[in-house]
Amino acid sequence: MPTTSTQFSATPFAEKTFGVTVTNLTKKFGSATVLKDVSLEVKPGEIFCLMGPSGSGKSVLLKHIAGLETATSGSVRIGDFDAADPATRDKVHLALVFQAGALFNSLTVYDNLALYPREHRQCNEAGIRERVMHALSILSLEKAAQKFPSELSGGMKKRVAIARALVMEPQLLLYDEPTSELDPVMGATISEIIATLREQTAVTSIVVTHDRDLAVNIADRIAIIMDGKIRATGLKADFRNPTDPQIADFLTPVIDLKNPRFKQLENNHE
Ligand SMILES: Nc1ncnc2c1ncn2[C@@H]1O[C@H](COP(=O)(O)OP(=O)(O)OP(=O)(O)O)[C@@H](O)[C@H]1O
Ligand SMILES: [Mg+2]
Repeated sequence: MPTTSTQFSATPFAEKTFGVTVTNLTKKFGSATVLKDVSLEVKPGEIFCLMGPSGSGKSVLLKHIAGLETATSGSVRIGDFDAADPATRDKVHLALVFQAGALFNSLTVYDNLALYPREHRQCNEAGIRERVMHALSILSLEKAAQKFPSELSGGMKKRVAIARALVMEPQLLLYDEPTSELDPVMGATISEIIATLREQTAVTSIVVTHDRDLAVNIADRIAIIMDGKIRATGLKADFRNPTDPQIADFLTPVIDLKNPRFKQLENNHE
């Protein structure tokens, strides 16, 4: 089990850290507008949690920040750089922990982690080995080094995806649902890792999550996105007793067997 006493800084991360500014971002896929005039600001070194219902546009927004999607209108800047410009990836160490892990199934865990430093010729094999094994040890995955992704549980794949991001020594870390499909203890462990990483390396961290415990425990600020629009942004304390009924229902849904949601949906469609 990983612990938060691990020194993440043993491998020095690049020192500079970047904020992210999203300005009037709109994204259309065909006739569907999935992001609607989204603006938000993430400060350098902050843990910023982006929450919202399924299909509200969280992953699409994260992909714009990572430069993997092109805006229909509006802009995303990482520090002074345009996130959509491929040259930005040479100037900012950015790592995205994908929702489904996005590991290469034909490569072992070790080779999945070694891929980025090998491709970027960042150091020799001995240096790569040190970085990869260090990242694996942080996530208690040393024994999985020679396994293939198909041999791992869902939670292990998540941890491998985070370990792979660490090997990239990121200045901006984007996590898409890092604790989904994990048991509560592993979810709490991942939250601790995200918080400790930020503490020790000052890495700016944007976390897309449904995990209320993660957000209220480790976020500096939270934004809620609903139907492609930012519904609210604030300090995590602002979301303890939300007055907006939709936000309250999203964060603390009440299971009401006398008036279930699916019946309400049916009534709305009649
Ligand atoms: N490449 C694409 N082409 C067309 N539509 C897309 C594409 N990617 C996402 N969408 C649509 O955009 C909307 C938002 O998707 P997104 O993946 O951002 O949701 P999400 O908030 O991350 O949901 P979840 O919590 O389920 O992961 C959805 O309606 C989805 O179908
Ligand atoms: Mg998503």
